[in-house]
Amino acid sequence: MTPDPARFAGRLEPLGVDFEARADRPLLLSLEQAGLPWPSSCRNGTCRSCIGRLAQGRVRYEIPWPGLSAEEKAEGCVLPCVAFPICDLVLQGPGA
Ligand code: FES
Repeated sequence: MTPDPARFAGRLEPLGVDFEARADRPLLLSLEQAGLPWPSSCRNGTCRSCIGRLAQGRVRYEIPWPGLSAEEKAEGCVLPCVAFPICDLVLQGPGA
């Protein structure tokens, strides 16, 4: 039996809305499931239309090089279409 995937507490700012961020799905899907609007296009980490910023928390990527520079990653930029949460987080954006 497979254990339930971890579920983290997400918060979307500046709306101040909470959502459930599942560890086994990209943030974009969790946002959409919560009915929160977020732009997207390619949904594979290349077009950058979904870019946002993590004010708190961390994510992991399953693709080796999502369309972010090392500097952008260091500044907290994320691509929610390919970013998986690994802890509770606060997401700023979109377009942050
Ligand atoms: S939708 Fe294209 S990078 Fe996220």
